[in-house]
Amino acid sequence: MKHLLKLMDLSKEQIIEILNIADQLKFEQKNGIEHKILSGKTLGMIFSKASTRTRVSFEVGMYQLGGNAIFLTDSDTQIGRGESIEDTARVLSRFVDGIMIRTFKQSDVENLAKSGTIPIINGLTDYSHPCQVLADLMTIREIKKSFKDLKLCYIGDGNNMANSLIVGCIKVGMKIAICCPKEYQPDKCLIEWGFRQEKLEVIDDIKRAVNSSDVLYTDVWASMGQENQREQRLKAFANFQINKELLSLANNDAIVLHCLPAHKGEEITADVFEKYAPIIFEQSENRLHAQKAVLVKVMGKK
Ligand code: CP
Ligand code: NVA
Repeated sequence: MKHLLKLMDLSKEQIIEILNIADQLKFEQKNGIEHKILSGKTLGMIFSKASTRTRVSFEVGMYQLGGNAIFLTDSDTQIGRGESIEDTARVLSRFVDGIMIRTFKQSDVENLAKSGTIPIINGLTDYSHPCQVLADLMTIREIKKSFKDLKLCYIGDGNNMANSLIVGCIKVGMKIAICCPKEYQPDKCLIEWGFRQEKLEVIDDIKRAVNSSDVLYTDVWASMGQENQREQRLKAFANFQINKELLSLANNDAIVLHCLPAHKGEEITADVFEKYAPIIFEQSENRLHAQKAVLVKVMGKK
């Protein structure tokens, strides 16, 4: 595995291998067993959008693996003054051993991979968020023990999270229902792909969508870069909230996941969020372990 640009590029076996390595690294970290697998390696982290979890988990992850991470933003690099992604990649390839990038266009991430000679990891684009979904799958498997016969129901905006969940869930053998307002559905090509796998339902009736679900998932109604559409989005998504009534229609042992940050009272009520907070924050912690597994796969010895 050279890069992590989007989950569609990975096979089921590659995803499962990452999850297995992540479980092992989590066990070792919890038991004080050092794993300096990336000793002497440096990760460049380019952020064109804000972040709490992604930044801290990559930085701490590199440290725990014996390496180093450098935080780079548009405003304090020449990217903000117009230096192209291609040239940036060609320069950074000579200094660092891998690049994690959080930006707007998926094509920028793909171009970075084409122009540089080092591994590229997608830390979120408008199109996808593969690192988050690897942590989500890790969390689901920890709690449910297997992916077999599980159904995840995603409620809200058909955004980067919805796109990556469609691919991640289906690749590991889960079913997924997407429940979004008609004008806010996920990427058309991914929906068609999901239909062809016969594992995807796209339903705007929220009660029917939640029926026999094992995992309910939601995300903010206005993603980074959509702040100016907030008012219109609050109206469009008003009936697409995870709350107590909705939860009662899912399976009795259903869990609730959220990639965070959460806007309580919008996509999820505060009472449901607090009830599932131990799971949601474990999911957040799993970003660290899942990403360390990705770093080992792309930057470790081949
Ligand atoms: N879930 C997630 O990617 O969080 P950050 O935006 O804080 O990195
Ligand atoms: N859809 C959200 C995810 C944040 C982790 C965003 O892109 O802002």
